[in-house]
Amino acid sequence: MNLSVIQFETLFNNKVDNTTKILSFVNDIDSDILVFPELATSGYYFTDKNMLSKIAEEFDGNTIKKAQKLSTDLDKIIIFGFPELFKDKIYNSAAIIFPNQNLSSVYRKTHLFYKERFVFEEGNTGFPVIEYNGLKLGTMICYDWRFPEAARTLALKGADLIVCPSNLVTGVWQNVMSSRALENKVYIAVSNKIGIESGENDMLTFNGESAIYSYDGSYLAKASKDKEEVITAEIYPAETRDKSFNEINDIFNDRRPEFYK
Ligand code: ACM
Repeated sequence: MNLSVIQFETLFNNKVDNTTKILSFVNDIDSDILVFPELATSGYYFTDKNMLSKIAEEFDGNTIKKAQKLSTDLDKIIIFGFPELFKDKIYNSAAIIFPNQNLSSVYRKTHLFYKERFVFEEGNTGFPVIEYNGLKLGTMICYDWRFPEAARTLALKGADLIVCPSNLVTGVWQNVMSSRALENKVYIAVSNKIGIESGENDMLTFNGESAIYSYDGSYLAKASKDKEEVITAEIYPAETRDKSFNEINDIFNDRRPEFYK
């Protein structure tokens, strides 16, 4: 099974260009799974909820419909971040689109970063794991990485692969993302954006280095800091399911949850 991570500069408040770009990548990249950045349809640094509400979209909106059609026609799993309108609330969500539309759903970001809390609601989906065609897929978004519970929850629910649409800005996530893969024995695919966005009083630089990690924490593929890039790797989902790493130790069976309270 082939997995591609797309790193590009999502443009602030420009759904038309961002969406055109996402859909053309989907058409052009010959992979089973395509992972795009967080808030890929909208850009990131919204501090005005009114402005955000104009670009936010319901899960049955046009962008999702187009992505669903491509997913079904081309038999590809597509994950991309978008601002999701639900009733009168806006979530920082990932659309998780399967060729079988009945499986398609959203993950709403659980842990909100920095000024996100002024414009987004805290996510309420929990951490879904969805099975399709021999793959158990889990999703978290960006800052969720700082909470080992997120990846652990997905792994305990059976995820083979955790996708992580991101707009990462710190220089520390690279030190630990591979640990999330190793400690859970899962593949992790991080799609980060590149470029700079200005807020009211400051600016954010998004630092690329999108990566696909194997379940031993090693890199299968890694992108540059500042260039548009597609990275691809072959993954073998079933290999993550035996959680032993020698003839005695098994990272799930060896857990002592009674002492973790
Ligand atoms: C982040 O959660 N966008 C850093």
